[in-house]
Parts: sequence; structure tokens; C-alpha cells
Amino acid sequence: MSRDVQLYIAMSLDGYIATKDDNIDFLSQVEMENEDYGYADFTQQIDTVIWGRRTYDKVMTFDGEFLHTGRKVYVISRSRTGETEHVTYHPDVIELVRQLKSEAGKNIYCDGGAEIIFELLRHQLIDRIIVSIIPHLLGDGIPLFKAGFSEQKITLKRSITYPSGLVQLWYDVRKEDQPEAGEN
Ligand SMILES: NC(=O)c1ccc[n+]([C@@H]2O[C@H](COP(=O)([O-])OP(=O)(O)OC[C@H]3O[C@@H](n4cnc5c(N)ncnc54)[C@H](OP(=O)(O)O)[C@@H]3O)[C@@H](O)[C@H]2O)c1
Repeated sequence: MSRDVQLYIAMSLDGYIATKDDNIDFLSQVEMENEDYGYADFTQQIDTVIWGRRTYDKVMTFDGEFLHTGRKVYVISRSRTGETEHVTYHPDVIELVRQLKSEAGKNIYCDGGAEIIFELLRHQLIDRIIVSIIPHLLGDGIPLFKAGFSEQKITLKRSITYPSGLVQLWYDVRKEDQPEAGEN
């Protein structure tokens, strides 16, 4: 069984994951008691996490316990090497993902950011995209999808509308030999 690389990420309706100065306060407007938008179920299916170095630095500013204790966590960076208590730095996300996919294991969670997602999309290495659309217009910021990767066909698998106004879309990225929805 091969492992999938799955993106689980939130963006504003106009397509941004953060402001240019890394502010993600717009995400807090959908925080509700007893609602995790499927995150706990999602993380049951993964054993490996990939973060871009800038995303990692942001996550480490959050209060509380390390988010992914017990999982293998890689931080993609050209500027840092080695490992910390929680993470291993890796210079090449493509080489890393190809290696991970050749090994047995649960799915691989890519949390972003945009630079790492772009690299993975450029090499057609993302299998599932789960994107939560926050009912908010940021106006400017870091776009989830940087321009310049090649066209890829995707299939909508689920759409979930939550009372907060968040809409979550699940897409599978089709491989060359997979038919379109409705085709045999
Ligand atoms: N809305 C959400 O759900 C969500 C999710 C994730 C992140 N975010 C936000 O997104 C922002 C970060 O995203 P980002 O796109 O700016 O940065 P990023 O992708 O998280 O990290 C960029 C860093 O990754 C390394 N990198 C990028 N491409 C590489 C390559 N080809 N080879 C080796 N290393 C490479 C570099 O690290 P070095 O500089 O160390 O070499 C680069 O500075 C933060 O504000 C974060 O809070 C939001």
C-alpha cells in the first residue's frame, strides 16, 4: 500500500494562508467549542508531518505542547541542518517525499507553507488536498497556490459546510490513469 501525501490547510476566500507578515489571526474567527473541523480524525491517518521552515517557526510561537509528539516531523530548510527534540531538518522535500513513499507507513501530512506546497505540486507529489475556506477576505498575503506548476486534474470527493461558515473541500489529485468522475 502506498502512502499518500495529504495537504490539510486553511485559506481566506481570496486564497491566502497568512498575511505577508505571517499573521494568521483570521483563522480564529472559526474557532468554536467542540469543533475541530475533522483535524483529530485526519491526524489519526498520518504518522509523518512536513513543514516548511517558516511554518515551523510560526508553529513554535504557539503556546502549549508540541503538536505532533509521537510523529516523525520534517522541517524543510536550506539554512538549517540536524535535528531538535521534535523535528529533523531536511534540505530536499522532493527527495524526502520520494523516500517516504517508498517506505511502509501511514499517510504523510503536509501543513505548508506555500513554498513547500509549490515544490510538491511542481513534482506532482500531492495526492489529496483538504482545504478549509475561511469566510474572510484578507486582501493580500501569502497565496496558498504560487503560480508556475503544471496543470493537474483533481476530483472533488467531499464538501462540508460548517455552522461557522467554514467550507471544507476534499480533492483527490488524479493520476494519469485515473478516469474523471462519471467516466468508467
Ligand atoms: N493557513 C494555514 O493553514 C497555514 C498553514 C501553514 C502555514 N501557514 C502560514 O504560511 C506562512 C509560511 O509559508 P511560506 O510559504 O512563507 O513558507 P514555508 O513554505 O513554510 O517555508 C519556507 C522555507 O522553507 C524552505 N524551503 C522552501 N523551498 C525550499 C526548497 N526547494 N528546498 C529547501 N528548502 C526550501 C526555506 O527555508 P530556509 O529559509 O530555512 O532555507 C524557506 O524559507 C506562515 O505565515 C504560516 O503561518 C498558514
